[in-house]
Amino acid sequence: MSSKLSFEGRVVVVTGAGGGLGKVYALEYAKRGAKVVVNDLGGSLGGSGHDKRAADLVVGEIRKSGGTAVANYDSVSGGGSNIVKTAIDHFGRVDVVINNAGILRDVSFAKMSAEQFAQVVDVHLNGAYELSHAAWPYMLKQKFGRIINTASPAGLYGNFGQANYAAAKLGLVGLAETLSKEGLKYDIRANVIAPLASSRMTEDILPAHILKQLGPEKIAPLVLYLTHESCKVTNSIFELAGGWYGQIRWERSSGQIFNPNEETLTPEALLHKWGSINDFTDKPFKPTEHPIQLADYNDLITKARNLPKNNDQGTIKIES
Ligand code: NAI
Repeated sequence: MSSKLSFEGRVVVVTGAGGGLGKVYALEYAKRGAKVVVNDLGGSLGGSGHDKRAADLVVGEIRKSGGTAVANYDSVSGGGSNIVKTAIDHFGRVDVVINNAGILRDVSFAKMSAEQFAQVVDVHLNGAYELSHAAWPYMLKQKFGRIINTASPAGLYGNFGQANYAAAKLGLVGLAETLSKEGLKYDIRANVIAPLASSRMTEDILPAHILKQLGPEKIAPLVLYLTHESCKVTNSIFELAGGWYGQIRWERSSGQIFNPNEETLTPEALLHKWGSINDFTDKPFKPTEHPIQLADYNDLITKARNLPKNNDQGTIKIES
């Protein structure tokens, strides 16, 4: 058995830690020696209202068990720098940021108002931006940082009635992927989780016998592992529920190249080769970098230029 992962000396900020998943993370970090900033606005599932008790109760529970924690009641949207200030004022540093706070405003796209769209993006995506951005200079300076963005299967695959939520959640993927690249040489690692767990978010959607198996304590181990100083994983997306953990990654078909001559590179030429463009059976590629970082784009463009102009005869499969 490996020894227990300790967070002694680390300062962890968990947003939305007054309930649900965030509360479980906060308790577990504190149990393992971290000093925890328990942020929660204490609002409704839709984001209205506020109540300090949500964060206070969790802080009380941590202190009762001998742990160290402080409450912060700011909204992640507009309050990111104050949340980091709470960490610095009380504990002098910030090592781990868990972007977890969230709300729902589910409604079919036809009926979704600009306000319903913006409010959800504001809490999930802008909130994660603000907090991570406020913590970033400290992480750069200390050459250490761990960030978790909480996405959702809805963001990875889409979900009826959740255009706002899904857009924000996939935005969190792009944010983490970029932070992982900008942070790498400072040992700042950013990853994404797409969980499914029982909480007030899912209690009306899933049947009781399923909810029973989806306790948030089954999500916490991955969050803690990914944010430990010994863990070098970055730029990764994990889907998890009820004790199952898997990784999600991008896949690009090997595709089809055409001579880029405007007389023959037509919609009809694409139609003719559509199966080939979408064929994942022949050596698909798993990109993790923007194509401008990859030599293979240059190679493809050169190959395309050198093809015969008549694409019907001249298309070739990409050799990967
Ligand atoms: P929850 O509703 O129990 O917890 C969210 C917490 O965030 C609440 O305590 C709430 O007061 C707080 N919060 C909301 N807006 C805030 C704001 N502006 N500033 C600070 N705190 C705020 O929900 P749950 O399930 O624990 O969700 C945690 C995260 O996991 C969310 O980002 C959610 O979208 C995500 N998620 C949850 C899934 C699930 O199956 N429960 C599925 C996929 C993603």
